Amino acid sequence: MTMAFVPYPGNEALAADLAAACGGVVIAVEHRNFPDGETYLRVCGDVSGRTVVIACGLDRPDAKTLGLYLLSSTLRALGARRLILAAPYLGYMRQDRVFRDGEGVTARYFAQLLSGFLDGLVTVDPHLHRIHDLSEVYSIPTRAVAAAPAIAAWIAANVEAPVVVGPDVESEQWASDVARRAGCPFVLSQKTRRGDRSVEVAVPDLQAWRDRTPVLIDDIISTAKTMIAAVRHVRATMPKAPVCAGVHAVFAEGAYQDLLAAGPSRIVTCNTVGHETNAIDVRPAIAAALAALAVPAIPS
Ligand code: R5P
Repeated sequence: MTMAFVPYPGNEALAADLAAACGGVVIAVEHRNFPDGETYLRVCGDVSGRTVVIACGLDRPDAKTLGLYLLSSTLRALGARRLILAAPYLGYMRQDRVFRDGEGVTARYFAQLLSGFLDGLVTVDPHLHRIHDLSEVYSIPTRAVAAAPAIAAWIAANVEAPVVVGPDVESEQWASDVARRAGCPFVLSQKTRRGDRSVEVAVPDLQAWRDRTPVLIDDIISTAKTMIAAVRHVRATMPKAPVCAGVHAVFAEGAYQDLLAAGPSRIVTCNTVGHETNAIDVRPAIAAALAALAVPAIPS
């Protein structure tokens, strides 16, 4: 039976693209709020016996998680055989350890919550730093799609003589991969985070690469303070303004305008979180991962 793709409200284009790529059908969801603000959902098609992919990016996850649970429970009650979440951006991955007394590891709690009502998860470049693999916190099968091949292809096609600059040592995992694939050098900066909206970024000496175009790469652009600090440094020391390439265009309130004001030559992101900077298509890679995850395990 073909897979069914069910969009969480607001994710219709994602569901349609994934269904087209996987040869599945889209089943719409009627959604409204009751007068008291509670959520009304109705699944407008037959999901009985099917593997169902719920398309739902998990940026701003607090506003979606209860609805996602209600939709999953409804699909299960309607006879869906397996529920796989396609979340191009996976929220709640950054509080991955206790930084201060009294905190919890919310990455772990959120993973336990989703694992409790889903059967599988596909995402793109989750924030894996102190958690090294999703299986450390998710108890369901997962696939983490790498955006590096698509970003490297974009750079190779659009940037003349690039040099990739990662904002911190944690970015080495994808900055080095992108640079290798794009056939260009890369350097890593040192970042010190002072608070949610305060970072210092020390970019190393780039004079050996003066003739190149700096491409600043980060996984998440949230407050954009990391990118802004790197842009300022590069603009002060290099002849060419940098390109900013992010995987996830999370962009907190005002962050995009602040980054534009710092003066990069261009800002591009992957289409994991809808934003006007989306220029790099990772949906084919998500579809491939879904197809692989949806293949039933062979009983031993
Ligand atoms: C940090 O570990 C991440 O890789 C990003 O550098 C960070 O999330 C960027 O955040 P912001 O845009 O708020 O500086």
